[in-house]
Amino acid sequence: MAKAARSQFVCQACGAVSARWAGKCGACGEWNSIIEEADTSPPPGSGMTRGSKGRVIPLETLDRRESEAIKRHVTGLSELDRVTGGGIVPGSAILIGGEPGIGKSTLLLQVAAAFARAGKNAVYFTGEEAAAQVRLRAERLGLSAVPLALAAETNLSNILATLADGKHADLIVIDSVQTLWADALEAAPGTVSQVRAATQSLVRYAKAEGSALLLVGHVTKDGNIAGPKVVEHMVDTVLYFEGDRGHPFRILRAAKNRFGATDEIGVFEMAGEGLREVANPSELFLGDRTSNAPGSAVFAGMEGTRPILVEIQALVVPSGLGTPRRAVVGWDASRLAMLLAVIDARCGISFAQHDVYLNVAGGLKITEPAADLAAAAALMSSISNVALPPDRIYFGEVSLSGAVRPSGHMPSRLKEAQKLGFKRAILPAAGDLETGSLKLELSRVEHIKGLADALGL
Ligand code: TYD
Ligand code: MG
Repeated sequence: MAKAARSQFVCQACGAVSARWAGKCGACGEWNSIIEEADTSPPPGSGMTRGSKGRVIPLETLDRRESEAIKRHVTGLSELDRVTGGGIVPGSAILIGGEPGIGKSTLLLQVAAAFARAGKNAVYFTGEEAAAQVRLRAERLGLSAVPLALAAETNLSNILATLADGKHADLIVIDSVQTLWADALEAAPGTVSQVRAATQSLVRYAKAEGSALLLVGHVTKDGNIAGPKVVEHMVDTVLYFEGDRGHPFRILRAAKNRFGATDEIGVFEMAGEGLREVANPSELFLGDRTSNAPGSAVFAGMEGTRPILVEIQALVVPSGLGTPRRAVVGWDASRLAMLLAVIDARCGISFAQHDVYLNVAGGLKITEPAADLAAAAALMSSISNVALPPDRIYFGEVSLSGAVRPSGHMPSRLKEAQKLGFKRAILPAAGDLETGSLKLELSRVEHIKGLADALGL
């Protein structure tokens, strides 16, 4: 007979299972992350082992039309609807990750309230706060009169029983998966086995009932959702709620989406009365711009299908160190190193004796290569201590040869700049443009040398 409670050792960072405890996980290299848990693999004879006889399932063909129009719950929070790809799909599971205090609970309360207001049945399970605390927050958000079902519960069986007992739930909110625990498992709440088992049961329930499931997941210090990647595989959509606690802006970003694109972002502002949607992020990221300071350039970027203008700030100061400092916030550090080398090699402007700091205003993170030209303009402006004219925007990718390559969505970027009152755009020479209705003056540069010339350096 097999031993009643076998145990296994599970790395809490990556989910790797081993037979023996170790100080360092052999799979991911994390220290002190291995915890003993009860073995949850199905016992022999449970029907899950090899050799069991399966049942014949009906096969479908790809051309069946039924699935074509997915009906979505449009929440009315248009920034969330944008990120999810047009609304929340019934039966789908969405995981929302984010640092503590960033506003996950606030967002989900607002979403659940939007469901309830639209006459749909939303149920909110909180494992982190008492029901009274949630009620207090709802009051602050002006949502206290909304008929939203609420319970403080962390026991998975109780949650499932409650859901099965009541009327069909259109939306189930679980805040958070790390607080859940299943009776059947001996591991503590928040461990990999518990999080995995709880998520699995809830996702299965949601799929069977056609309820949309919203799960909150905490992130670890390196930014991944705690309780490993396995949870991300189980859900349809993974959203990250990001932001700097010093700034009021919050950005909702899709890391995975089975029902839409992953390059859209939703922008919110944390205000006294909860999260406010920001329909025009450019105004937000340019809001407190102090013109006429050297080292500031406005980048006309794209986030998904939406243009966003954002200020890039550079500070170049003489260095007292043998190896000068390079510090970047909101941009890629190796991209900065490359750009500095290109400016040095192609324009003869050297940063070797200078510390370089680069910052993207407002807490936004830029991943587009098109930001090169704006960053280059900011760097050149700072090292020469000459302010750039405030009514200009920049975009274009700089290659190692110094050539400026065309970017996608050039007309949208220009239109956004014109809408916000900019007068001139510095952009790549290559790439076709329909300039019919555009009043913006265009300076098209072929090479980064052209940018230096245009700035008078
Ligand atoms: P919360 O949703 O509790 O964050 P999370 O669930 O991600 O841990 O929100 C945390 C912060 O938001 C809290 O520090 C206070 C702030 N906040 C506001 O500024 N305005 C509001 O209306 C609310 C509800 C919260
Ligand atoms: Mg919370």
